[in-house]
Amino acid sequence: MEQENQEQTYTMPRIGDEAPSFQAATSQGNLSLEDYKGKWVVLFSHPSDFTPVCTTEFVAFQEIYPELKEMNTELLGLSVDSVPSHIAWIRSIEENFNTTIEFPVIADLDKQVAMKYGMIMPGESQVETSRAVFVIDDKQKIRSIIYYPLTTGRNMQEILRLVKALQTTDEHGVSTPANWTEGDKAVVSPPKTQEEAAKRSQEEGIEYIDWYISKKNL
Ligand code: BEZ
Repeated sequence: MEQENQEQTYTMPRIGDEAPSFQAATSQGNLSLEDYKGKWVVLFSHPSDFTPVCTTEFVAFQEIYPELKEMNTELLGLSVDSVPSHIAWIRSIEENFNTTIEFPVIADLDKQVAMKYGMIMPGESQVETSRAVFVIDDKQKIRSIIYYPLTTGRNMQEILRLVKALQTTDEHGVSTPANWTEGDKAVVSPPKTQEEAAKRSQEEGIEYIDWYISKKNL
């Protein structure tokens, strides 16, 4: 039994997996993953309340929250702290930074959610969650995972870009190239047969570079 628990501690979901379900106490009451069906979710963990880098991140997450909402995307934070700790920290952020944190934060004192999502990196810290970001789509599938260490604050523009890129892929059936941002050309799926490859250069409405790489405006 002990062995089974040990194994579960280090379980990490992967891109394409169904997002592990949970019910959790948060700074805004009890929530479950199922409550978010039909919406995209950015579920992120931070190491600890009342720490400097995490505080800068919370202010920055709140800044992008309206833009995420416009993309049908909700934010949900998590750390191994209590609900009263989250409330006290959120109040302190409001006082010190004039920023009201509007998204809920999971109080994962028993690490149940952190364990399911592989948010704890035992080699770095046994007690704190690392800076993980899970992008979960409206069908509750994990679409992307980002991990940052304890000492590095995350880049909010990259999180926005990532959600936009994934949603653009879904909407238009394209891929997005390096450093893509909204408005840039997207990558057309490469041909799957020799016949398709031979015809690619004649296709209308694409920027043809070679048989395997073409781009188009959306
Ligand atoms: C911070 O948020 O400042 C922090 C948290 C844990 C370890 C290192 C830094």
